Amino acid sequence: MDGVVLELVRIGLRTAHALAAVLWVGGSLFFALALIPALRRIGATAERLELATAVGREFRRLVRASIVIFLVTGAILAFDRLSRPGVPALYTALLGVKIALALWMFWLVRERDVPDRPATLATATAPSESGAAAASSEASALWHPCIRRQTLLLTLGIAVYLLAIVLRVIFEAAQAAQPRV
Ligand code: HEM
Repeated sequence: MDGVVLELVRIGLRTAHALAAVLWVGGSLFFALALIPALRRIGATAERLELATAVGREFRRLVRASIVIFLVTGAILAFDRLSRPGVPALYTALLGVKIALALWMFWLVRERDVPDRPATLATATAPSESGAAAASSEASALWHPCIRRQTLLLTLGIAVYLLAIVLRVIFEAAQAAQPRV
């Protein structure tokens, strides 16, 4: 019975962890591949800027919530995995890399030089507006660092996700190789 409860807790933790990953990485892909190109294509209006700002703010709130989920569930999962017999050194090393990259992602999100409104979205369309030279130069000043940051976050997110898959494969192979008692 205890074993069943423990397994259910593990499933719950892994589900929460995986959902947080899907939310962050999937959400970032949606921004990069759908929302920003769509905003670039339609004409610049106040409503669109408002929508972009609201979407960005909501997404940042979700990302912050997912960081809490990663930290709590990730710490428990790591402890659970590393306390099993026969965990290879490669697993521990790759887990260390995964955690370091994840912490880098969290740090990038926390940095305060990113304006609270999503400059990536808000400025995605502004540079093309005619007669708005000042707005345009302000826009491109914000645009480039923010795009670079978003691209770095997305790249790191995909790398961390891939590492998680590799970790699972290594862990399951090591467990399967353990002698049955
Ligand atoms: C400090 C932060 C984190 C820690 C300590 C952590 C730790 C772990 C551990 C120990 C596992 C189990 C690996 C295995 O199967 O052996 C795992 C799974 C996973 N992690 Fe993380 N992780 C963190 C952050 C992240 C982030 C930021 C992402 C996504 C961008 C992520 C995505 C995943 C995914 C997709 C899985 C597979 C879930 C499953 O199917 O079981 N993790 N993580």
